[in-house]
Amino acid sequence: KDIPSLHGLYGGQFSIGTAIEAFQTEGAYGELVQKHFNSVVAGNAMKPISLQPSEGQFHWEEADQIVQFARQHGLEIRFHTLVWHNQTGDWMFKDKNGQPMTPTAENKKLLLDRLETHIRAVAARYKNVITDWDVVNEVIDPDQPDGMRRSKWYQITGTDYIEKAFRVTREAAGPNARLFINDYNTHEPKKRDFLYNLVRDLLAKGVPIDGVGHQSHIRLEFPAISEIEQSIEKFASLGLDNQITELDMGLYSNDTDRYETIPESMLIRQAHRYRALFDMFSRQQNHISNVTIWGTDDGNTWLSTFPIARLDKPLLFDERLKAKYAYWALADSS
Ligand code: XIL
Repeated sequence: KDIPSLHGLYGGQFSIGTAIEAFQTEGAYGELVQKHFNSVVAGNAMKPISLQPSEGQFHWEEADQIVQFARQHGLEIRFHTLVWHNQTGDWMFKDKNGQPMTPTAENKKLLLDRLETHIRAVAARYKNVITDWDVVNEVIDPDQPDGMRRSKWYQITGTDYIEKAFRVTREAAGPNARLFINDYNTHEPKKRDFLYNLVRDLLAKGVPIDGVGHQSHIRLEFPAISEIEQSIEKFASLGLDNQITELDMGLYSNDTDRYETIPESMLIRQAHRYRALFDMFSRQQNHISNVTIWGTDDGNTWLSTFPIARLDKPLLFDERLKAKYAYWALADSS
């Protein structure tokens, strides 16, 4: 109960956030979140399919519940995410006859109009309370010759959807909104460089991008912290802000291992690595405005269901909401 709060420890350097579902605004979860964090993001409630499951039908309840909780307790809110190829209603990519869109000029216009409608509706509701926005998520695919993910968005509009999303968000969410391009594995040199070139070119065209969101779903064994640091420095050299948007640290180094119980020694190694990572964030605090952990307790982590059902413990609190070694390593002032 009386342990130091994470935002007390790190809040002077960067905002410290956690991903929550609406039910985690209540009871013991809500208390834990309020105590340790000064920023929240919705794990699912603000994704396109949650907010607009069918065309023109907006569902705000869960998102509103998170926003209300955050406002009550003075927490910042990150918006995740306006545009993505996943968790988006199929209707988005159907043509006017209800058939899957093919790349025609007519479909391109229809899709870009829908993108604009979605962004304007969301921004109208939250523009005064949400300042940080993931505008597009996961647009890079380093296995493509040009580095652009071949999503439906790309197939129908090329890269125009990215530019449009940022311009419309700036207009609709206001001049104080901070707009992010978010992705995973941003430490990988190839992916990092595709992302860097894209952002540099967009900035040169006057597209309003304020920063890069580094998801940072990392593991116990990799990547090297120096690689993550180099990526942050590289984007900072463009004059951009960086946020660590979805940090967790899976204990498995591949997708198929499965332990019956997690050895304690692993949790201790995890603690040391969390500390080394946060030491790097502290060094880079002028370039990092927010560090958000993708979940609060090991009982509620997306890693336990993906890609196979198995126990993983990537977070700072255990399934009984007790502080883990990883938390204590961050709290240790020595
Ligand atoms: C995940 C959620 O945590 C899960 O609950 C959901 O089933 C799938 O999506 N990258 C992202 C996040 O940008 O939106 C994803 O969140 C995790 C990977």
